Amino acid sequence: APTLKSAYKQDFYIGTALSADQINEKDADVNNLIKSQFSAISPENNLKCEMIHPKWDEYTFDVADKYVAYGKKNNMFVVGHALIWHEQLSPFVLAIKSKDSLSMFMQNHISTVAGRYKGKIDGWDVVNEALNEDGTYRKSIFFEKLGDDFLVTAFKLAEKAAPNTELYYNDFNIEQPVKRQGAIRLLKKIKDSGARIDGVGIQGHWSLDGLPLKDIEESIIAYSKLGLKVMITELDISVLPVPEKLVGANVDQNFEEDAKMNPYTNGVPDSIQVKLAQRYEDLFKVFLKHKDKISRVTFWGVNDSQSWLNNWPIKNRTNYPLLFDRNNKTNKAYDQVMA
Ligand code: XIL
Repeated sequence: APTLKSAYKQDFYIGTALSADQINEKDADVNNLIKSQFSAISPENNLKCEMIHPKWDEYTFDVADKYVAYGKKNNMFVVGHALIWHEQLSPFVLAIKSKDSLSMFMQNHISTVAGRYKGKIDGWDVVNEALNEDGTYRKSIFFEKLGDDFLVTAFKLAEKAAPNTELYYNDFNIEQPVKRQGAIRLLKKIKDSGARIDGVGIQGHWSLDGLPLKDIEESIIAYSKLGLKVMITELDISVLPVPEKLVGANVDQNFEEDAKMNPYTNGVPDSIQVKLAQRYEDLFKVFLKHKDKISRVTFWGVNDSQSWLNNWPIKNRTNYPLLFDRNNKTNKAYDQVMA
């Protein structure tokens, strides 16, 4: 039977993000699914700073090594995620006081991590989420201490450590026109510096209502015009309400009490499944129309039970954002993407 990766073989890689359990092959069903359906993998958490670099001189590469070996063994395109990001940093990084120490951290971290997987990881998210919604630079520890030069520095260090690996900038909402302008400025800055950058990842955390199709298409075209590969790197479509005021709000609040916020605990209604399938169909039509510009479409997780959207931006909900359900069975959206 055809699978996602065979159906899109001529077009772009179809990827998924692996959890630690999946990397460790804890569950044969899900691992069979991963191997038959996907041609690319991303590490959902296991290559982030807090997972692999707990102290100045201490690295823990156990699971990360297994992740890379898994991809090589199964002939997949192996993505690294992410070298420089303001979240999921180890406490020692957040405690860094001086500019010089932070530069030293970047130098050590990137050369050690990217260097270890040189020739094995096929593409790295070198910098993740450096922009605010208005297109200005996020006031991360990196920007605050090093200014916007940290971007160029990161790409130059990554290129030095892994000369044959593709290097990407990755962010969410960069299909939105205002943030897109900021992203284009950022990408041009990196290019103009002489550093190498090969692609840009539009994360693709979208939701059932208000999928910005036109912005997505215009962004694919605009980024491609810069001479970059375009990727959708963390695709999922939330079916749950995401009120504006909750975006970025404290996720520890007790919203799970509120049934309106978590309406599908006993299963997803048919009408919602149909709507989700329609959204995925619309999206993949745009992707196929621009397949000459798109190198990879990666889902953020394999099945609905794994999805981070069960816990973001509100904890403990039951979401249905992916193409495989909680029993690893395909849903209507899968059928549409295959059709
Ligand atoms: C998420 C993971 O899916 C969660 O398991 C984790 O608790 C938090 O991070 N943007 C990114 C990803 O670049 O790394 C994030 O992944 C989701 C948003």
